[in-house]
Amino acid sequence: MRHLITTKDFSNDEILELFKYTKEYLDEKERNDLKGKSVTTIFFENSTRTQSSFETAARRLGAKVLKLDVSRSSSSKGETLFDTAANLDAMAPSAIIIRHKNSGVPHTLANYTHCPIINGGDGKHAHPTQALLDLFTIMEHFNYDVIGKKIAIIGDIKNSRVAASNLELLPRFGIDISLVAPPHFMPNYPIKKFYKLKDVIDDVDIIMSLRTQTERHNVPTYASLQDYANDFCITKELIKDKNIIILHPGPVHRNIDISDEVMVDKRSKVLAQVKNGVAIRMAVLKKLILER
Ligand code: NCD
Repeated sequence: MRHLITTKDFSNDEILELFKYTKEYLDEKERNDLKGKSVTTIFFENSTRTQSSFETAARRLGAKVLKLDVSRSSSSKGETLFDTAANLDAMAPSAIIIRHKNSGVPHTLANYTHCPIINGGDGKHAHPTQALLDLFTIMEHFNYDVIGKKIAIIGDIKNSRVAASNLELLPRFGIDISLVAPPHFMPNYPIKKFYKLKDVIDDVDIIMSLRTQTERHNVPTYASLQDYANDFCITKELIKDKNIIILHPGPVHRNIDISDEVMVDKRSKVLAQVKNGVAIRMAVLKKLILER
């Protein structure tokens, strides 16, 4: 049985094949591929996009969705995560999608269940479907001609599972990554690093802005988000009329990550990412559930 815990779980060929289906699913039509199947979502961390995106994806393929409300579940009565998982598994879902604040939880749970586990984000570790939808958005924009394209990933890279998954995935398709962040948000990766946005802005095709992950900071290591914004917010003054695209996984801190004006600029792909996210999750669900 296959799981999707990190982007490493799929080969490049498999990803390109997923993208073929993803493209078809952009028509937003209802399908019956997963009729009779059931998909369970269990999100121990807040989510607006990812959970509803998976649920929309499952329903669009004809599956039933069981959304476990964690605040009302037995986890809040002291049941261990493994017992919760084993009990969910006993109801024989076709796939379980899990988000958890601790890295490694989806991987461990895969040993306790009999269906594919899909990681909807675990701690700082990985968020594979987000990176897949980011790559798909880039591929579509550049007509699949992405080798040598340059991306600047900007923000709280050290604490971001979205950055971690993109750092694994994008170079596999020939995309060149630079990291841009203040020192306290900079990870230890052996990769090009810049501490000022203006030092890279003339030399990139894609900007990926990330939210400051305040919930993962034990102690704040910076003065204020406004100080951060002064140096790292994507503004019109900064991008001028450059031929670039701007990505952000959401939730966006407006005027800290990206200015209001840039959010509605044609070069901002933020809502296209959300649309693509449903289609990529349809492709992932279909692959993992039907190819067992
Ligand atoms: C991201 C996440 O939860 O990792 N959001 C998302 O899934 N769209 C990014 C974030 O929370 O900053």
